[in-house]
Amino acid sequence: MSKHAPRLPWFGPGKFPLYLAPMARHTDVAFRQLCKEQGADVMVTEFVQSEALIRDNAKAWEMVDFTETQRPMGVQIFGATPASMAKAARLVCDRMKPDFLDLNFGCPAHKVIEQNAGSGLLRCPPLLYDLVKAVKDSIPDVPLTAKMRIGWDYSTIVAVEVAGRLEELGVEAIAVHGRTKEQGYSGAAHWGWIAQVAAAVKIPVIGNGDIKDGVSALLRQSETGVSGLMIGRAALGNPWIFRQIKAALAGSADELPVIGTTQRWDCMLRLAELTIDVHASRLGSRDVRWMLDRLHPLTHGLPGSRKLRDQLRHCLTLDDLRRLRDAHLSASIA
Ligand SMILES: Cc1cc2nc3c(=O)[nH]c(=O)nc-3n(C[C@H](O)[C@H](O)[C@H](O)COP(=O)(O)O)c2cc1C
Repeated sequence: MSKHAPRLPWFGPGKFPLYLAPMARHTDVAFRQLCKEQGADVMVTEFVQSEALIRDNAKAWEMVDFTETQRPMGVQIFGATPASMAKAARLVCDRMKPDFLDLNFGCPAHKVIEQNAGSGLLRCPPLLYDLVKAVKDSIPDVPLTAKMRIGWDYSTIVAVEVAGRLEELGVEAIAVHGRTKEQGYSGAAHWGWIAQVAAAVKIPVIGNGDIKDGVSALLRQSETGVSGLMIGRAALGNPWIFRQIKAALAGSADELPVIGTTQRWDCMLRLAELTIDVHASRLGSRDVRWMLDRLHPLTHGLPGSRKLRDQLRHCLTLDDLRRLRDAHLSASIA
């Protein structure tokens, strides 16, 4: 059962929100739009560096952009300096008016942890707490949430201790990715630790890691006491996953339409069109080549998908993509 959070009304008895996980270079306005249409309840922008926002870097501000239809929306920031984080948080809340501000304590990338930011802060909880205090003081009017890993490595699992302190400091919900920093994205997410965090705090805990379908979602919901789930990589190749999970949780998965070749192509083209609408003016190009990494996951499961991914590389424009779709569909149906 979902815990109550007065300023985050998507939690509460009878509610079980599905979050789209923030994923840098993937979950921009365009991809989020697709997921929203497929039932994602809550979304968070990919992480943005606090200093870049303070410098008024145009790209950073573009990354925190969202549309009204995507609410409830959180903006996620990262950094290691309490004063900068507090200042960036205030700027974001004044300019973007997000439904909540989210702090990143999970990123394992070298360039982030070498600044002591992201999951680097899990090595140094006192700094992490100072940072939370500073941000909390700067945005008392906006709910504050956090996303964290369970610890730096297996010998220093700090999730329960850090989550308890975050709750005391006024953080209103915590997403826990059940891996250590050392794991990166390998191995399995440790849902036992996520369950321990959920049992230890009164605020909602959103469980994250390796949810790939309705069955895994149902299992985690029933076993762990989390108040919601966050879905990342599985959504990249299957934006329909939010509907599939909702149907599984409601016990009506049998009624779902099958996602076939035509639906996958429709989705790929829609994502390409949305992505061009969002980015073309900044890039000065309607070229589709640079977005191949976001189209590739959607080809998995299509007939001849490996050859198709090669062919995608030769598409320059939306019209090329449409021609490839027509050829591929007629070959698949023939
Ligand atoms: C390409 C990529 C980019 C990511 N970027 C972010 C990010 O900006 N902020 C964040 O908190 N987590 C980020 N993550 C982590 C995801 O939000 C999520 O915690 C992780 O993928 C585990 O969930 P999953 O097993 O459902 O994918 C990223 C993950 C991937 C694969």
